[in-house]
Parts: sequence; C-alpha cells; structure tokens
Amino acid sequence: MLELPILQDIQAEKAVSSAVNSLNQPKLYVETYGCQMNVNDTEIVQGVMNDSGYAMTDMPELADVILLNTCAIRDNAEKKIHERLNHLKYYKKRNKDLVVGILGCMAERLRETLLEKELVDLVVGPDEYRTVPELISKAYSGEKGIAVKLSRVETYDDILPFRTEGISAWVSIMRGCDKFCTYCVVPFTRGRERSRAFASIVDEAKALYDQGFKEITLLGQNVNSYRDEQSGHNFAELLDACAKAVPGMRIRYTTSHPQDMSDQLIETMAMHDNICKYIHLPVQSGSNRILALMNRTHPVEHYYERIEMIKKLMPNCALSTDIITGFPTETEEDHQETMELMKRVRYDGAFMFKYSPRERTKAWKMGDDIPDEVKVRRLNEIINQQNAIAREINQSLIGTIEHVLIEGPSKKNPMEWQGRTDTNKITIVPQNEHTPYVIGDIVPVKIVKTSSATLVGSLL
Ligand code: 5AD
Ligand code: SF4
Repeated sequence: MLELPILQDIQAEKAVSSAVNSLNQPKLYVETYGCQMNVNDTEIVQGVMNDSGYAMTDMPELADVILLNTCAIRDNAEKKIHERLNHLKYYKKRNKDLVVGILGCMAERLRETLLEKELVDLVVGPDEYRTVPELISKAYSGEKGIAVKLSRVETYDDILPFRTEGISAWVSIMRGCDKFCTYCVVPFTRGRERSRAFASIVDEAKALYDQGFKEITLLGQNVNSYRDEQSGHNFAELLDACAKAVPGMRIRYTTSHPQDMSDQLIETMAMHDNICKYIHLPVQSGSNRILALMNRTHPVEHYYERIEMIKKLMPNCALSTDIITGFPTETEEDHQETMELMKRVRYDGAFMFKYSPRERTKAWKMGDDIPDEVKVRRLNEIINQQNAIAREINQSLIGTIEHVLIEGPSKKNPMEWQGRTDTNKITIVPQNEHTPYVIGDIVPVKIVKTSSATLVGSLL
C-alpha cells in the first residue's frame, strides 16, 4: 500500500527544494537608507526582483546584485552613501561580475554624476523601479543603465511588496509631495503628489491581517493630502475604512502636515480604538518669520490650535515633531521661539536637525549664513530641553497600565521582550514562564521605570 507522506515530511521536502532553488537563483542584497518610504520602496523593488527570479540575501558577500536605496534629504545622508560606495569596491574586486546599483532620492538628484563612478552599473529614481530587472540584465553584458524619469501616475499599486517580518507592515498610500517647503529636496526627488486607489489599500490591509500582521503604518510624505481619484475619498475616510476593515490590527500613519490636519481626521482617530494615539506633526520652527521663509503655509497659532484640538479629543495622544535649527537668517530670538513652542507643546519625542542647504531648493538661494558652531549650539539646546521634557512625561506614566505589542527580544537583554505602546513608546517587558507571551501578542503591563527614550513594564 502506498503511504501518504505526513505533513512534516511535505514541509521538510518543500524547505529542501526551496533551499535548492534559491541556490540556483541569482541573489539580491539591498541596503536601505533614509525614511520609511524608502523601507517600503525597498520591499517594492524586492517584489519586482523576486518576480524576475531573484532570491534575497542579507549577506552582501554572497550577492550577485547589490542595490543601495538612498536618501538625499541632508548632505550627511549623501556622504554616508559615498563612503559605503567606496567600501563596495572591495566586493567588486572579489567578484568582477557583481552588479552595483543606486536607487532612490540620491539617484534622482545626482543622476549621470553617479554613473560616472566606475563601480556603479545602474542608477534608478523612485518612479522607475519596474525597470530594475531589465537594467540589471543589461549590466551583466557590460552596459550601464539609468532610469530617472518622475511620473505623475506611478503608485506601484499592482506590485506585491516583498515582506519578511511578520508583525508590522508599511503600506504606502501616496507618493511625492507638492508642498515645496523651501529647504526640502523631496518635491524634486520624488515628484508630484499622487494617491493609490482606496480599494487596493483597504484590500492590502485585509490581506496583511490574514497573513498574521498585527500592525500597519500608512505611509506618505504628506498623508493628509491623500485623495482617491475615483471616489474623492480623503485620508480621514481611508483611515476610517481601514480601522473598520481590520479591527484586530493596530493602525498608524506618517507623516502629517499641520496645514492639512483636519478636524475630521482628529475625530476619526478619536473614534477608533485600533488607531494608535500617536501623531507625528512636524513644526520645523516656532518663529512665524522663519515658518513663512520655509513656506510652511501656516503660522504657529494654527499649529497650537491643532494641538489643542488633538489634546481635547485624545488627552493621552502622544506627539512628536521635526525641528530644523539654523535655517537662513534664524536669529537668537527665532531660536528662543522654537524653544518656547517645544516647552508649550511638550512633545513625547522629536527629530532635530541642523539646516543643510540643498541645491535646486528656494532656500539654497538664501545662503547659509548661520555658522556651524551656532547651529550645533542651538541644536544641543533643543535636544537637551526635549530630553528633559520626554523624561518628565515618561516618569508621569509610572504606575499606569500600557498595552504593549511584543516585537521581539530586547536588544540589551534577550531574556526580555521589547515592544511598543499604542503611543509608540519602546517598552521592555519581562518574559513570563507561566503564561509565556509570544511575538505579536498585545500584553498589558504596569510601567515601573522610565528614561527619556524607554519604558520598563512589569507583568500584571
Ligand atoms: N536640512 C535639514 N533638515 C531637513 N529636513 C528636510 N530638509 C532638510 C534640510 N535641508 C528635515 C525636516 C523634515 C525631515 C524629514 O527632515 O525636518 O520634516
Ligand atoms: Fe519636504 Fe515639506 Fe514635502 Fe515634508 S511637506 S516632504 S518637508 S516639501
């Protein structure tokens, strides 16, 4: 009698055959720099490459193709890539057939200049990722390739991002930016705003839920200007639809522009328990004069009014922001106004940067008159003040109960778990041998210790 193989045997066979397959497949290694949009774009490129027969590797020394997905937002982001490229020369020395490509914002900004580097075989901007497999084939026969056209319609709607981690997924809902803040290179490197179809985003959220993901983050340079072309639905309506479609999942989004942070959006967040109570709302400066020079399109009064509405409807909502110090002509008084704003809002977190002039932007023509030592001093002042505020806010959480989504072992101590609260605070949770929690569980914990960056919980 023919015996049917048992399930484990079938799984073992499958694992062996996929290992053999991946041995024969060419291998792709991608390194990602910059924002979350780039993280999701890397998954899109990996999806395209996987469809073309490539296997992924996380070891560059084993790769047939190495791609760097780059960031151009500040000069130091680009310096890092140049250093990495220098280092990749050693890989190419060892493997003459290795193909090296530059993707992303720096590819879009520097174009042919990058291709002049002997090492680089292809340069591909954010709207041309469908061409990557073809350009790689050409590179194998010694032909360098460039694809940097920006599109008014490309949203990669039909491409399945290649995702490995099973807890949190990035879902991009729109691309590009039309805001033209005067310091920012993004409108030039990522092109005009365009939104993905409403239904395809909701379907992706449902599919991710079915695959076991516990959290999605809706992504865009300025999600608040999302608009579905067919139905006219706005971002608040999209968020509402996602919250209803996957009630068992946590939903986050980033990034918002204060000008477009509508009442409807704040009300939608307040209405749904599964929309995380955390808003990243970049302000950049507390001075109306600087905000106008930055073309932020709103005064600080509008910002305060939005914060008040958020705090009224969601008293426990965490807030974070982006700040730039040393924008052209920034005076000591402007800087003090930023310090005041940060004291008044009391952010849970902030990303703080020194102004970095970018070619093609309007601010580039304003010069870079603030000496570096002044930029650094102002930056340190806002960082120190922010750390003290975050420490105080976190301390006030001691004794409260927080719900933590377990993401994996703690980096410092693998015997403990690490996860995030609804308000996006990293929290350490002890392991429990009696009721063992696993990655992906949402665990109620009592906060017992805090710093400016982390909470420590004890099991209830
Ligand atoms: N210099 C410094 N910081 C910048 N950002 C954008 N462009 C620049 C620049 N030229 C910061 C802004 C933005 C964040 C993503 O990066 O604060 O919100
Ligand atoms: Fe850049 Fe302003 Fe657009 Fe943000 S909103 S990506 S800072 S231009």
